[in-house]
Amino acid sequence: MTNRKILVTSALPYANGDIHLGHLMEAIQTDIWVRFQRLRDHDCVYVCADDAHGTAIMLSAEARQISAETLIDETQKRHKADYDGFSISFDNFHSTHSDENKLLSEKIYIALEKKGHIIKRDIKQLFDSEKNLFLADRYVVGTCPKCHAENQYGDNCEVCGSTYDPADLINARSTISGAEPKLKNSEHFFFDLPQFKSMLQQWTRSGTLQEAVANKLSEWLDHDLKQWDISRDAPYFGFEIPNAPDKYFYVWLDAPIGYMASFKNFCSKQEYQFDEYWDQEKSGGTELYHFIGKDIVNFHTLFWPAMLHSTGYRMPTAVFAHGFLTVDGTKMSKSRGTFVKARDYLEHLDPEYLRYYLGAKLSSGIDDLDLNFEDFVFRVNSDLVGKIANIASRCAGFVTKNFDGFLSGQLDNPALISELQSASHEIADFYEQREFNKAIRRIMSLADKVNQYINDKQPWVLAKNDPKSQNLHNVLTTSVNAFRILIIYLKPVVPVLAEKVETFLSVRPLSWNDIDDVLLNKKINIFKPLILRMEMKSIETLILQTKTSEDVMKDTIGDSITSNEEPKNKLEAEEIDLKHFQKMDLRVAEIIDAKHVSGADKLLELKLSLGIDEHGEVLTRTVFSGIKSAYQPETLIGRLTVIIANLKPRKMKFGVSEGMVLAAGPGDKEIWLLQPDSGAKAGMRIT
Ligand code: MSP
Ligand code: ZN
Repeated sequence: MTNRKILVTSALPYANGDIHLGHLMEAIQTDIWVRFQRLRDHDCVYVCADDAHGTAIMLSAEARQISAETLIDETQKRHKADYDGFSISFDNFHSTHSDENKLLSEKIYIALEKKGHIIKRDIKQLFDSEKNLFLADRYVVGTCPKCHAENQYGDNCEVCGSTYDPADLINARSTISGAEPKLKNSEHFFFDLPQFKSMLQQWTRSGTLQEAVANKLSEWLDHDLKQWDISRDAPYFGFEIPNAPDKYFYVWLDAPIGYMASFKNFCSKQEYQFDEYWDQEKSGGTELYHFIGKDIVNFHTLFWPAMLHSTGYRMPTAVFAHGFLTVDGTKMSKSRGTFVKARDYLEHLDPEYLRYYLGAKLSSGIDDLDLNFEDFVFRVNSDLVGKIANIASRCAGFVTKNFDGFLSGQLDNPALISELQSASHEIADFYEQREFNKAIRRIMSLADKVNQYINDKQPWVLAKNDPKSQNLHNVLTTSVNAFRILIIYLKPVVPVLAEKVETFLSVRPLSWNDIDDVLLNKKINIFKPLILRMEMKSIETLILQTKTSEDVMKDTIGDSITSNEEPKNKLEAEEIDLKHFQKMDLRVAEIIDAKHVSGADKLLELKLSLGIDEHGEVLTRTVFSGIKSAYQPETLIGRLTVIIANLKPRKMKFGVSEGMVLAAGPGDKEIWLLQPDSGAKAGMRIT
């Protein structure tokens, strides 16, 4: 086996949100493949980074009143910790907002420009003159010009499905300031993609892509390719375009360059040569793979290879796209908040459960994959606990007790061991081809055989009859060796479990070559349980937690204040510790202004005073509250109420809500704002 030099990436998560199960599915898919390559002694480097640029990140930072740099630094730490929790084995996790990326982006842009691939022309775009900001489509809402549905985004209607020009939207408003957007001219820079049509037609058909992806692309490639708008006007959080003041690279220009930048940063810490992996001429001996979701295929298989090709860099050896993760049959959606975050998961469940379940379901295709909770529990318990861990737990005790922890000098059933060993090529092929589900199925069928063998031999009966018999010793030794081989096969999927087994067997880290060895006359350690049964209860708690945050979000958007659920007749909130309660900064607040929000059915915009700070300034908060059905805004001014002051600010259609006022009641006219007793003053903390 010759050693390959491989560089692998996962798509760069945006730096303005937490890692969720969708991101994890991609990272786990990539990590299984990477760990498999390393297990086979290939030199496989895995890099990633945060995608730190763009309007969304700029606005999130603004809403939190922190700098974009602070926001992306914080997020990067959280992302690293989240991925770490799931044993994602990055060699480097960098940021697109880095010196390396700035340099490389400028270099590539200048090269493109020199070659005549950059075209400049004026375009008309909606402009928010209150914020002094050009508005991307999703920052504009209005009434659909076709079906007249309200509150539709700038470029397409979720109700009738039509797409349109944002300028045609009726009563358009900026979601950032609420102002009516105006059309304004600005010069934009375009990457001349059509020049690369024939190169791309060839490249996308040269075995670099999955067939389904190549077919999808030929729909684009057979028609006219469009020039790609790569510039954005200030204010923008990103890199300024060289020699073009106030023009910035569009986030998607420097995002994939972030792969190179992360590797470059890695090279500054390790003995790797950048050119050996990226230079068109010098990279013949290395391979480059991108793992991505199917939603970002065009960026990775059209723009990106074209940019690389024309500027002297190598193109990817292959791009591996995957489908989307759904949870219990429904699509996870960022805007609807129906996603489970990595951190919430880690509070309740073992990450190896998820790695195993996804491993058992992932294939090389681009179909969506469903995480069905019942199936999840069943699969993990029946396979990992019931089939794998069970082999060791049924035999290890006897090795320790009856044979001082020593394995015997011979196997009872060498044929069983050879059968396990001879599956290695087939299983390796499945891993290599990213057919993880097939690999797992094969491994589990081998595990069934091993369990059958143990059932037939009944070591517990042998031990009763003659505790130190050679026969028993050989049966145990066969079982432990079978177990060891199964664990090598599973190691890319469940690395933490494999590590525990290495400790149990008292061996150095297992590698694929070790499959051919047999452990004889070796002393092994006392067996400790490898993995706990998965409990449905833990999932229920996790779901409850995710649901709670989702409901809170809907309430403030004003969707569910009049819920159509039956009122509940018992109190069924989860118990919390005092510690949790004390995390909430509940304050007395004075409503100093209250008004209707144009276009909102349920919301009032409240301005709240939280008293005077140490510099004599009035501390204020703007909160959108779904209480319009119960209150006239004028009647609220001057009243005291209670707010959660440390609720993370949330950007809503109409602006940023910086807290939540507390109210009770089923909804509609029956909503009552909480009001403290007389004597309380704005700013007082509720304890
Ligand atoms: N920042 C860009 C990628 C730039 S790569 C040069 C981006 N970020 S993202 O955070 O929206 O998504 C990161 C990756 O996660 C993408 O590959 C995306 O397809 C994947 N997923 C996001 N949600 C997903 C699911 N629900 N299921 C599976 N993967 C999904 O796009
Ligand atoms: Zn419509």
